[in-house]
Amino acid sequence: MNGSENEKIEQLQPYIVDDTGTKLTTNQGLKIADDENSLKAGVRGPTLLEDFHLREKITHFDHERIPERVVHARGYAAHGEFELYHSMKEFTKAGFLQEPGTKTPIFIRFSTVAGSKGSAETVRDVRGFAIKFYTQEGNFDLVGNNIPVFFIQDAIKFPDFVHAVKPEPHNEMPQASSAHDTLWDFVANNQETAHMIMWLMSDRAIPRSFRMMDGFGVHTFRFVNEEGIAKFIKFHYKPRLGAHSLIWDEAQMIAGHDPDFHRRDLWENIEHGNIVEYDLGVQMIDEKDEFMFDFDILDATKLWPEEQVPIRFFGKITLNRNVDNVFAETEQVAFHPGNVVPGIDFTNDPLLQGRLFSYLDTQLLRLGGPNFTEIPINRPVCPFHNNQRDGFSRQRINKGQVSYHKNSLANNTPSTSTWKEGGYVHYAEKVEGRVIQARSESFKDHFSQARLFWNSMSPVEKRHIRNAFKFEVGKVKSESVRQQVVDMFVNVDKALAKELAYAVGVKQPTGEQVDVSASSPALSLENTPKYPYT
Ligand code: HEM
Repeated sequence: MNGSENEKIEQLQPYIVDDTGTKLTTNQGLKIADDENSLKAGVRGPTLLEDFHLREKITHFDHERIPERVVHARGYAAHGEFELYHSMKEFTKAGFLQEPGTKTPIFIRFSTVAGSKGSAETVRDVRGFAIKFYTQEGNFDLVGNNIPVFFIQDAIKFPDFVHAVKPEPHNEMPQASSAHDTLWDFVANNQETAHMIMWLMSDRAIPRSFRMMDGFGVHTFRFVNEEGIAKFIKFHYKPRLGAHSLIWDEAQMIAGHDPDFHRRDLWENIEHGNIVEYDLGVQMIDEKDEFMFDFDILDATKLWPEEQVPIRFFGKITLNRNVDNVFAETEQVAFHPGNVVPGIDFTNDPLLQGRLFSYLDTQLLRLGGPNFTEIPINRPVCPFHNNQRDGFSRQRINKGQVSYHKNSLANNTPSTSTWKEGGYVHYAEKVEGRVIQARSESFKDHFSQARLFWNSMSPVEKRHIRNAFKFEVGKVKSESVRQQVVDMFVNVDKALAKELAYAVGVKQPTGEQVDVSASSPALSLENTPKYPYT
């Protein structure tokens, strides 16, 4: 597909300005006679405030920067399409997942998490993998990562986690690195991080290319079909080139030689017409089977083993067009896990619930007020109207006198039979119980899947993980924190913890490896029957 067949690219065309060969003017359209000398009184006299061109030029420059994203600041994006190859009609009424062959324009932004906007790209970190689907029913944002689990279980800890992983406040170091006291102090004192840390220490955290990365929605979402029947789902995207990583020494060297390595790789491959493709699929669990597993399916620190719950792939993601302007598109794009379409719904995953608040809130600041949805890259391709009005930098000129509901003058109230007419209706989940803060008991099991991950690694992969631990924890200045980390990871693997203790100069771990095998049949997946169990 070239750009002209893509409805979103078409929509962007009127906003694209080619300044080649044009004469400079002010923002008011006045031709500029002199762009090198400000207006002065006499040859050696003072500069005059009257010089409107000087004032306009400098003022605009002074306001060029907007806040970088509070996380995922370093990112790169491209346009493309999603093509459905298997109908998912049986499971969801989402319009773009009904008819095989349906193509939906998409925009994907890849990112690192911790580093600032100018940091090196091949660092050890999680990678963001956010997809905006411009569907005919509105924008659907799949705001995922390249690792299937997360550091924490509840959104209330997110600010703490990010404060711990970002450069330390007193000296603003280290930039984009997992090797520092606050991160490991947080890890040891918030042990639900164990599983994610195993992934972070693995080669998955130093991908070879954005084109060679897995993607995961991480949270449990819902598909809801036309009959109102729901399934729990987890999204997966797999690169057709396979998932590949750098090794640590390569990553280090590349960071020095070419801090733009990943964006350059994506840009150049798209420019050369090379294929950037992924398959999109879901794992699905029936509502009635919510409690069938030895982990809580709403716990974002746990994955659903694919041996138990296979992935059903249904469509192909293709990236085929670079942006025209990184600021206008890549920086101003606003992803939000709360942007869903009919047939896709949320669950009570306590991490997801916090995200539903956070993204809009931060974008109101980052993009300067409530009208950022009117920025070209953020507009849906389908019509949109509501009763919102005014606010900084309003772009649309809404005609008429009515901007309220209910009204009789404009006759534009939502239909009362919204379900039939495609209006979004939230899934009518049954809720019961008391207001409490604790989650189910299995949320406390922090080590079963961490150990499962470790046990699934090949000897080479294990060596890389051991070396990563030694490097990252070895940089921690506080002996107490190093000791706490060693004592924590004995719960994943005793030999790993012992080797780490020796390498980072602390006492051998005191605790005994917890026996989780009895409570966690998932530790041995080989003979596990596939879901749905028969
Ligand atoms: C970006 C909050 C967890 C994936 C962001 C941003 C915020 C945020 C405030 C910046 C958004 C912007 O400025 O436009 C949170 C909170 C979380 C959380 C509060 C947990 C409670 C996660 C998880 C994932 C994730 C679990 C992966 C599934 C992303 C991605 C971006 C992002 C990919 C970058 C989006 C882009 O490219 O613009 N997050 N996040 N986040 N987050 Fe999260």
